[in-house]
Amino acid sequence: MNPVFTRRSIRKFTREPVSGEQVELLLKAGLCAPSARNKQPWHFIAVTDHDQLDRIPRYHPYASMVPEATLAILVCGDLQMESEIGFIALNCAAATENILVTAADLGLGSVWLGVYPREERMAGMKELFSLPDHIVPVSLIAVGHPAEHKPPRSDFNWNKVRYNQW
Ligand SMILES: Cc1cc2nc3c(=O)[nH]c(=O)nc-3n(C[C@H](O)[C@H](O)[C@H](O)COP(=O)(O)O)c2cc1C
Repeated sequence: MNPVFTRRSIRKFTREPVSGEQVELLLKAGLCAPSARNKQPWHFIAVTDHDQLDRIPRYHPYASMVPEATLAILVCGDLQMESEIGFIALNCAAATENILVTAADLGLGSVWLGVYPREERMAGMKELFSLPDHIVPVSLIAVGHPAEHKPPRSDFNWNKVRYNQW
C-alpha cells in the first residue's frame, strides 16, 4: 500500500541501528522535496552519535524517545537562501513529510518532533547543534526500527472535504 496511508507516528524503537544506506535514502527524500521557486532553502543534520542522541531530550520536551531511535534528523531552514520564514517553514515541512513517508516505506518507524515556531525549542536546538545565526531549526525527526505497531488511519472525516466551493 502507498506508505502515505500506512505511516503513523512511532515513539517506541528497538535499539537496532538504521543502516547507512537507509540514512542516505531518508536524506535523499528530504533533498528532493518541493520548494517555493525551487530555492531548496534547507539543511539536514543526521544524528547517529549516541552521546548527541542522548543529549537531545534535555533540549526538547517531547524527545524522550530519541536515544532509543538510533537516528535523528534535524531539518533546518536557511535565512540567507529564503528570507521569508513562512516559506522556510513550508519548505522544511514538505521535506519532513517526505522523510516520514520514506521511513514508513523502508519499514522504519518515525515521528515528527515540532521545533519551529516554539522559541525555547529553537534556542535549544541552536545551542545543541551550534547552528549559525541564519540557520533556523524547523523540525526534528526520530527514526528507528519500530517497537510498536499502529494500524493505518481509518478515521477520515469526510466532512472536511468539499467540492468546487465552500
Ligand atoms: C508540526 C508537527 C509537530 C509535531 N510535534 C510533535 C512533538 O513534539 N512530539 C510528538 O510526540 N509528536 C509530534 N507530532 C506528531 C503528531 O502528534 C502526530 O502526527 C499526530 O498525533 C497524528 O498521529 P499519526 O502521525 O500517527 O497519524 C507533530 C506533528 C506535526 C505535524
